[in-house]
Amino acid sequence: MKLIFLVLGMLPLLAQAADMATKINVSSCEACHGQKGVGKNEFPRLAALEATYFVKQLQDFRTGTRSNPMMQPVAKSMSEADMSKYAAYFSKLPQPAAQPSSEGAALLAAGESLAKNGDWPNGIPACFQCHGAKGQGISPDFPQIAGQPARYITVQIANWKSGARSNDSVGLMKSVADKMTDEQIKAVAAYLSQGVTK
Ligand code: HEC
Ligand code: HEC
Repeated sequence: MKLIFLVLGMLPLLAQAADMATKINVSSCEACHGQKGVGKNEFPRLAALEATYFVKQLQDFRTGTRSNPMMQPVAKSMSEADMSKYAAYFSKLPQPAAQPSSEGAALLAAGESLAKNGDWPNGIPACFQCHGAKGQGISPDFPQIAGQPARYITVQIANWKSGARSNDSVGLMKSVADKMTDEQIKAVAAYLSQGVTK
């Protein structure tokens, strides 16, 4: 009898221990994504990403419609509850300040023109038509692209072209990526990497 009371008395403690076990480990993400999720090179910025989009990407890495050898094992080890917790944490971090690009003025101007006006003769719509007037995103389906590292943006466009990333609804991004030249990709990635500009 005494033993039963003892066990019952421990139940809240056990529940607490289970909660601890599902606690998220943000520093494991920061090892690749940078302190406070600021992003660098091929590692995207996670700070201030929209939470629904964040969870969708983790689910897509898990199912493989978005393939990446570094991120897929991470996503596969997560429960749905973990995904929501990480999304909640990173979406609330402050947006890193805008950063000037070291690329030349002509390349940046070409990137700005593609982002704002597109390249209609070649069937490329303006990036900002879908991604918001400053590339700040339109919640929840169109992510913020301004302020992602240039290298990361370049890799994503290459992945849509190759099919390594096929998680965009009705192929919206693939149809854009397929029409872009290497020079256009370089230009728009450099322009966007500067952040949300005035
Ligand atoms: C070993 C390095 C590594 C670790 C550790 C890592 N990531 Fe990533 N993550 C990446 C890479 C690389 C990408 C970009 C993949 C691609 O090119 O599609 C990425 C992409 C993402 C994206 C998609 C972002 C976007 O804008 O589409 C999310 C969300 C994400 N990671 C969350 C996390 C979380 C949460 C953790 C910690 C639990 C984590 N990552 C740990 C390397 C890592
Ligand atoms: C017709 C609408 C549309 C246009 C135009 C468009 N995009 Fe996208 N883009 C999308 C959608 C939808 C997604 C999200 C796909 C998903 O759910 O993973 C996306 C995702 C992205 C991402 C991945 C962001 C991340 O962190 O996961 C990048 C980078 C990107 N777009 C760049 C561009 C660039 C550069 C242009 C202009 C040359 C552009 N997009 C034009 C619809 C569009």
